Amino acid sequence: MKKTGIFYGSTTGTTEDVAHRIGKCLGVEDADIHNVASSSPSDVADYDLLVLGTSTWGAGDLQDDWEDFIAGLSQVSLKGKKVALFGCGDETMADTFCNAVGTLHERLKDTGAEFVGAFPDGVYEFDSSSADQGDGVAVGLLLDEVNHPELSDSRIREWAQLL
Ligand SMILES: Cc1cc2nc3c(=O)[nH]c(=O)nc-3n(C[C@H](O)[C@H](O)[C@H](O)COP(=O)(O)O)c2cc1C
Repeated sequence: MKKTGIFYGSTTGTTEDVAHRIGKCLGVEDADIHNVASSSPSDVADYDLLVLGTSTWGAGDLQDDWEDFIAGLSQVSLKGKKVALFGCGDETMADTFCNAVGTLHERLKDTGAEFVGAFPDGVYEFDSSSADQGDGVAVGLLLDEVNHPELSDSRIREWAQLL
């Protein structure tokens, strides 16, 4: 059976909470849900499927704790591993909605990982996101717990089926 690890960065606890909700859906134990602030990129070695989550801060920036972690992870070969991305944002930041998810994708695209879990984002109203691939589909699961928390659980359930 494939082993799944969830790694998240979260400033006010929203993405942390979502990481645990995703974990429940996927049957991932708490011991396999890691805050990147207190983890090392080498911790991913244990897992076949990496579920990586970030919120977006500033004007489209990666959540702070991800900075060092992604610098390390982007240097590691992830060949043979699958990577699924998720993120929390705010659609009223309409030019940079969940941009950090796009940043994770960009930074990991040369690691040999297979990306899974591209998911519709057209349910939100925003103008631009670097996570958006066009045609209303993003590189991963985008959530807006600020304006549309009522949409999140069903989106999490549907997304989990794809992984
Ligand atoms: C100062 C500030 C800047 C933000 N910038 C963005 C942004 O550029 N894009 C976006 O989608 N969300 C943005 N957000 C919204 C956060 O990503 C959102 O509140 C998220 O749920 C926080 O998750 P966390 O508690 O896990 O860090 C911003 C929020 C604040 C307070």
